Amino acid sequence: MNAFKATQLLASKSMVGLPTSILASSNLRTSFVRSVPACTRQVHLQLHKEDRKGVVNPDFFKVPEELLNEVHPKPIRNDFISQKLTSADLEKLDIGLTKHREPITFGDKVALTVVKSLRIPADLFFRKKYLHRAVALETVAAVPGMVGAVIRHLRSLRKMKHDGGWITHLLHEAENERMHLLTWMKVCQPTLLERMLVTAVQGVFFNCFFLFYLFTPKTAHRIVGYLEEEAVISYTGFLKEIDEGRIEDKPAPQIAVDYWNLQKSATLRDVVLAVRADEALHRDTNHHFSDRITLKQEDLREEISRSGMLHVAQQQEQAMSRNMDVEDGKASKWA
Ligand SMILES: [Fe+2]
Ligand SMILES: [Fe+2]
Repeated sequence: MNAFKATQLLASKSMVGLPTSILASSNLRTSFVRSVPACTRQVHLQLHKEDRKGVVNPDFFKVPEELLNEVHPKPIRNDFISQKLTSADLEKLDIGLTKHREPITFGDKVALTVVKSLRIPADLFFRKKYLHRAVALETVAAVPGMVGAVIRHLRSLRKMKHDGGWITHLLHEAENERMHLLTWMKVCQPTLLERMLVTAVQGVFFNCFFLFYLFTPKTAHRIVGYLEEEAVISYTGFLKEIDEGRIEDKPAPQIAVDYWNLQKSATLRDVVLAVRADEALHRDTNHHFSDRITLKQEDLREEISRSGMLHVAQQQEQAMSRNMDVEDGKASKWA
């Protein structure tokens, strides 16, 4: 079977979502085939013909387990990979709780203003409903990494050169944010109004952020850096609500125990600590990425190969001090 035919068959299969064996061997096939348009039916008839001849290898459609990646996505912080962290360990994670990147350039000031003004409607809408806030905001937080990765992927194709190591990181960031969302969905169900709001906000935010990233990626990353600063603040407020008994500290959902490699006895509070630590890493990484673009030092591979780690943010302090010597104060300091 040539590649074109294989692609056609795969496309027809995914279109209906039913295994060939079911369609071929039951009455379901007859009723199904009657209900689909003629062109789709043609493709299915071809599929069954190929199947009967034994041409279609069932393994052809088998997705390798590592590609499913839904079962064991990798955490974004190395702290969660090496050992099972206790509540005390999670408390002790050095995340720079009060870190704030002072805005220096005009773009930085725009980014901070945008984020601070976005916070106002979020505070008014959700108030102290931290679980609902977390669900809604994670649907937004998972967008920038994917947008950045898409744009850098296309740029890599256009310029026909390596992306410098950004795409993998940005995709990992988007996956991490989506894992936050899936975790909170095990604890709280959004209302119909919240779901409608999420759909509307996604339509606007995705397109605006796409254009922003296209024209000024450094400000786009700065916006994400400031958004993550706000996320750290919000999750700290969430912790306070748990500590003061206004939100029940239930057992952690299994998805969280698996993803962050937590102890079996982990609770919601531990999950909030783990998510907050992730947000702190996104904050540092995105501010760092913005600085790298400002300094025209976008190739991350040097740091990655030196440290053997994916996340360059952990070398941020070192990189920043080196950059500042070179670039005449354009790079900034952490407050
Ligand atoms: Fe998040
Ligand atoms: Fe985040």
